[in-house]
Amino acid sequence: MSYACGRKKLGKLTVALILGARPQIIKSSPLIRLFNADEQVHLSVIHTGQHYDYEMTQVFFDEFSLPEPTANLEVGSGSHAQQTAKIMSRLEPVLLEQKPALVLVPGDTNSTLAGALTAAKLNIPVAHIEAGARSYDNRMPEEINRRLTDHCSSMLFTATKVCSENLLKEGIRKESIHQVGDTMYEVLLQQLPKAEKTAILKQLAVQPKAYALLTLHRQENVDNFENLKRIIAAVVRLEKLAVVFPVHPRTRKQLCSSNLYSKLEEQRHIKLVEPVSYLENISLIKNACFVMTDSGGVQKEAFWLKTPCITLRENTEWVETVQLGANHLLGSDTDCIVNTAEEIIRNAEALDKKLAKLPNPFGDGLASQKILETLKTSRLPRC
Ligand code: UD1
Ligand code: UDP
Repeated sequence: MSYACGRKKLGKLTVALILGARPQIIKSSPLIRLFNADEQVHLSVIHTGQHYDYEMTQVFFDEFSLPEPTANLEVGSGSHAQQTAKIMSRLEPVLLEQKPALVLVPGDTNSTLAGALTAAKLNIPVAHIEAGARSYDNRMPEEINRRLTDHCSSMLFTATKVCSENLLKEGIRKESIHQVGDTMYEVLLQQLPKAEKTAILKQLAVQPKAYALLTLHRQENVDNFENLKRIIAAVVRLEKLAVVFPVHPRTRKQLCSSNLYSKLEEQRHIKLVEPVSYLENISLIKNACFVMTDSGGVQKEAFWLKTPCITLRENTEWVETVQLGANHLLGSDTDCIVNTAEEIIRNAEALDKKLAKLPNPFGDGLASQKILETLKTSRLPRC
């Protein structure tokens, strides 16, 4: 466990940001830059160590030129209880030493919940970024994490009107809800010009619109052999175009422990690669004919980049993308996935025109600025 406590200056608002998993680093990047540039704020970034492979964490610090975290709790992998408990017991002494006026937690991972609970039990106010997202499926660990985090937060930063309304329905006070828009949209707007310059399509020898992108890592798909088998069967049948598949470490482990990894390797149209960088992934989403995913973030990125999306889940917290007709919720039904994919290929031109006209319910891309202003005008103590 390594600590390196930053120095605080008098009169500053001291904020600790807790992150640990890939999407949290990505969605926090504009906020970290903005807070670090503000004289009135002292930001400490605490990495839980939930993700630790280079391509799951450090690549994003490098790609976004972010400073190293103030502390890394190095908790690593484990069961939900072990991981959550380990983060809490290692985070508590750091928060007691740093004494932040506020703890900020983005997203819905075990790092989010552990950060929120630890702070709340020390009576440190908690602010949740991406509050109010609901799939209404309590079998998903992320749903439990979101709900509990929201209910121990005193400031709730939401991405959309639907998220704000979800919180109101659960009895959260209107004054605590701040609809600031989606921080991932902000990252995308900032990074898209750079993403367009990556050489990933060339490296993978794929042409724009002549491949599909697959990302898969959710527990309900990957740890359930029947679901995994059905999804892989669909991908194997989609021979009409290449399928680029950056494999999440959880998924690699599960595919390798069955015969499914070798089955995928035998298919000439499937390109299995290590997880790619953010810029590479954005380039892959933008240029894909369509995306197949169970990721929360990738569903939204496909929506913003006007790429049709097949979501390999039965529900989603980003219901707007489905209501607007850009996202198809298909679960793990092999025939449905293949039929919808073929329909997307057949109607590509008409779909392009339809997606180009859709409104964006995810705000104006200034979420971090709005979060900063809300915190600075709050009654949080300065030291
Ligand atoms: C976690 C989040 C999920 C999020 C995802 C983003 C929870 C409950 N889940 O899922 O909401 O969508 O991150 O990617 O917090 N592993 C490695 N190297 C790593 C990290 C993980 O090999 O750097 C392997 C380990 O075998 C580990 C498994 O992946 O047991 C799962 O990792 P974990 O962090 O528990 O969950 P994710 O599936 O990554
Ligand atoms: N992502 C990435 N490389 C990959 C796969 C995903 O950079 O190989 C990015 C993706 O563009 C998005 C974020 O990771 O910004 C989503 O994270 P993930 O799918 O791991 O988690 P979720 O959003 O489901 O919580």
